[in-house]
Amino acid sequence: MHNDIERIVVTEEQIRDKVKSAAAWLDEKFAHTEKPLLAISVLKGSVMFFCDIVRAMTIPVQLDFMTVSSYGSSSQSSGIPKIVMDLAASVKDRDVLLVEDIVDSGHTLVTMSELIKGRGAKSFTVVSLFDKPSRRQVPVSADYSCFEVGDEFIVGYGLDYAQQYRNLPYIGILKREIYENK
Ligand code: IMP
Ligand code: MG
Repeated sequence: MHNDIERIVVTEEQIRDKVKSAAAWLDEKFAHTEKPLLAISVLKGSVMFFCDIVRAMTIPVQLDFMTVSSYGSSSQSSGIPKIVMDLAASVKDRDVLLVEDIVDSGHTLVTMSELIKGRGAKSFTVVSLFDKPSRRQVPVSADYSCFEVGDEFIVGYGLDYAQQYRNLPYIGILKREIYENK
């Protein structure tokens, strides 16, 4: 285990199992769509989850990416998500799947949802790796969440603190001393 990690909350094996179930749910939900599903990764946090989930799906799917940032290097949300890089594809009349790392305050999800629906998507579905319901500031939720976490800061499998730890293959709680002394 990495030195800065207090404890592991989700193992690689648990991630693999949940990815499989989420992909099966999506395969079924979008089995009869006209055009391929447009899967969007909200970068950078969802990147590992996104790659695993689209590989586990068997229905036709197209991939696109969007970078949204709501944190500086702190562990608290600024509350104002900023679109750093927009999509390449048009979402008009498309079944859109948004793949998120974690729904925390909910601000990022509201921003993405308004944007994608406003551009005329045919349907909008959200799959999130984590849900942190105790921190919600706006009443939104994903259609499918793999894991729930309390009011703790987690890193790994895409999730970062100050852009670090994204490459850990598991998800862990960061030692408080790492972010409190900065
Ligand atoms: P929201 O807009 O407050 O819902 O936050 C969304 C973003 O904050 C997520 O997509 C993550 O990138 C980041 N975030 C929230 N909680 C955590 C955490 O515990 N670890 C790492 N990133 C987090
Ligand atoms: Mg982040």
